[in-house]
Amino acid sequence: MPAQPLDTALAEVRALLLDPARLTRAVAAGRRRGQAPSVVRAELRPVRLKAGMRLQVVTSDGVRPYTRNLAFGAEADAAVDALLAEPFGNWHVQTTDATVQVRVTKSGAAQVHRAATRSTADTAHDREKEYLLDPGDPLFDVIGGSAAKRRQVDAFLRALAATLPANEALPRPLRVVDLGCGNAYLTFAAYRYLTASRGLDVRLIGVDVREDQRARNTELAERLGWADKVHFVAGTISDAPVDGADVVLALHACDTATDEALARAIEWRAPWVLAAPCCHHDIAAQLRRVAAPAPYALLTSHGILRERFADVLTDALRAALLRRHGYRVDVVEFVDSAHTPRNVLIRGKYTGASADGDEYAALVEMWQVTPRLAALLGEDRSAG
Ligand SMILES: C[S@@+](CC[C@H](N)C(=O)[O-])C[C@H]1O[C@@H](n2cnc3c(N)ncnc32)[C@H](O)[C@@H]1O
Repeated sequence: MPAQPLDTALAEVRALLLDPARLTRAVAAGRRRGQAPSVVRAELRPVRLKAGMRLQVVTSDGVRPYTRNLAFGAEADAAVDALLAEPFGNWHVQTTDATVQVRVTKSGAAQVHRAATRSTADTAHDREKEYLLDPGDPLFDVIGGSAAKRRQVDAFLRALAATLPANEALPRPLRVVDLGCGNAYLTFAAYRYLTASRGLDVRLIGVDVREDQRARNTELAERLGWADKVHFVAGTISDAPVDGADVVLALHACDTATDEALARAIEWRAPWVLAAPCCHHDIAAQLRRVAAPAPYALLTSHGILRERFADVLTDALRAALLRRHGYRVDVVEFVDSAHTPRNVLIRGKYTGASADGDEYAALVEMWQVTPRLAALLGEDRSAG
């Protein structure tokens, strides 16, 4: 690949970075021989905010990301010129129709590699395939997390994006809780997506029973500069002092902690709830204690089948209880099972219209089980 003058190559990159109709995403990284840029990485992409299209520039000093949303025109021009003047070793620019890579050689010339993007016409389709939050996002440098967790979080955010209506139809500020937040990967990623990509004013509370998680997550929120909007509480999901929420999130809250999350969503009449359950021990244990009704003993006589059946029964009963309490519910696979076997998502939208509970009552009676969610809602098995 013949080298070409660096100025010419960077002029081509500049034109692409400042074209919101073509730019998909660009990353500058690496360093030129004997020089060091003032930031270790810069990522640019066009984002649609309430105020209009902006060029989002996320720079990272290797510890924390710094995000700016700049108006196209003088503001974006100046930021792009400043970044192009930095001695980055590489620029990688993806547009709707091409990928352009510029590598600066030891002698200070440019090697430019250009390739056509797979689809030229269907940019919506191209964007659809992208991550909502790139696994290489500098946010993850701060919060950590394995590649598998990043994929789960991205898939969960995708489901959230598909669930929430347009910004105009959302409460302001939007109150979000992440119940059983653990290391808060989802909490921080959701905050980043809802604020930076959607332009929303968000108050987020993460709840986890572990005090060490609260302390760690609070410290991370401070490092990210989000401590005034993102808070963490140590306590059980059932008892944590949270007044209410517009959006309830729960990703792999253990066993019956998912039931606690759904019960609080119902208590708050939270307009949206998204819960991806984890292990299901409670109903599995109940099934072990009673004889299966005829002719279904074959479903529960082998341990592995009983566990899988318990998973299905538990989530079907959770969905039914949500419907009885005024939610429209769907149960979907939110991420490929290659990334986690716990890939079911229970998604509810509060409508106030309650479904009747006859089938629910018949099912729990037949299998002689009491779902934890029913107990938390103060219902006994026979409540139909
Ligand atoms: C499997 S982790 C998932 C963490 C996080 N949501 C994620 O996906 O990375 C489950 C978390 O739920 C917390 N937890 C379990 N039962 C809880 C309860 N009843 N109340 C609050 N937190 C609970 C645990 O401490 C743990 O951090």
